[in-house]
Amino acid sequence: MRLNKYIAQSGIASRRKADELTIAGNVKINGTVMRKPGYDVVEGDIVEVSGRKIEPVKKLIYLMLNKPKGFVTTVSDEDGRATVLDLLTDVSERIFPIGRLDYNTSGLLLLTNDGDLAYRLTHPKHKIYKTYRARVNGIISDARLAQLRNGVDIGGFVTSQAKVKVLKGTAHTSLVEIQIYEGKNRQVRKMFASVGNKVIDLERVAMGELYLGRLKEGHYRKLTQEEINYLKNC
Ligand code: URA
Repeated sequence: MRLNKYIAQSGIASRRKADELTIAGNVKINGTVMRKPGYDVVEGDIVEVSGRKIEPVKKLIYLMLNKPKGFVTTVSDEDGRATVLDLLTDVSERIFPIGRLDYNTSGLLLLTNDGDLAYRLTHPKHKIYKTYRARVNGIISDARLAQLRNGVDIGGFVTSQAKVKVLKGTAHTSLVEIQIYEGKNRQVRKMFASVGNKVIDLERVAMGELYLGRLKEGHYRKLTQEEINYLKNC
């Protein structure tokens, strides 16, 4: 990136002002005065303006991934398992998942380098509904549905009210949509286990008003400006 653009993107001066500062000898690259505004700043260069180290404002990235099963949502894994970052082939920024999905859960996962937003959205007091589709063993009775809706004990924690509906049922399995706003470890699996139904497959299909839609498994896309605004204001 040209030096004057680099300085301008750090927010301290316009490009024209950056040129003036450079020509006047106020800019150093790696400790040496640089008077050429067209110098090409390369990765690793340390740029100082009037004795202060500067960096361009980081580009904020917001992505939605359809996470397949078999990937961890941590940035690295002690056991060497594949992480969701392995799926982001053309992203050079250091980004990280907002919240987590189990190794065997698929579906909507947001990733960003916007630490403020990630922090806000994962804070327990933040009430954004997450919608899951769970395929569970057996029939799920009305009594069990009521228990799930009202709150169940998942081992030292009683879940808050949830929205739950059966989408499809056979004698062997039921497909259930469940919406919760808490994010306890393996919460949905534990909730169904507590009423006697084992989760066979679990997919997150929405977070608040953000929907997975037709995004294919293993694929990702940038959030639209509208979606970003929604997350910032919800
Ligand atoms: N609940 C679970 O049990 N697993 C997930 O991955 C997300 C919610």
